[in-house]
Amino acid sequence: MEGIHTRDWLCSINIWLPQQLSREDQELLRAAHEAAAKAYAPYSNFQVGGAVRLADGVIVTGSNQENMAYPSGMCGERVAVFAARAQHPGQSMKTLAIVSPSMQAISEAFMPCGGCRQVLVEAERRQGTPLRILLQVRDEEVMESESALNLIPFAFEAHGLGQAPSENQ
Ligand code: THU
Repeated sequence: MEGIHTRDWLCSINIWLPQQLSREDQELLRAAHEAAAKAYAPYSNFQVGGAVRLADGVIVTGSNQENMAYPSGMCGERVAVFAARAQHPGQSMKTLAIVSPSMQAISEAFMPCGGCRQVLVEAERRQGTPLRILLQVRDEEVMESESALNLIPFAFEAHGLGQAPSENQ
């Protein structure tokens, strides 16, 4: 049985071998790995690193930061994106690389959590240009999405709260 309307979500991603990527992208993945090595994840032992390439080429990184009061911690990719906006408010974000060197991520693949996807979508809406995502899903595979919106069907958007103001960069 069908409802009164149906909606489809088309999600298109590419999977690359790391060596197929441009030197810039490989550099960004390396920066994300270096960031992951600085994670503070004593509770989960699941380290995540993020590296954002800004429009001017600058790279800003972040890693997950946990806390004994568990919900007070923060994901690695969100730390990177928040740091990029906090330190370079005038620059749009071109590409975000996300990696995890943890054994679970390498063996089972790893995708960003829903909360992070929501944050990535707002960064994209705010800057008015796509935020490309590179995700090292396994040791030998890098997933590429041309836009963050690709990763979160029907993301939260409440017009009553106001839309993400465009920064027209
Ligand atoms: N984590 C991230 O950093 N990014 C995600 O997208 C999912 C989970 C972190 C949060 C926590 O420190 C650890 O991984 C285990 O959940």
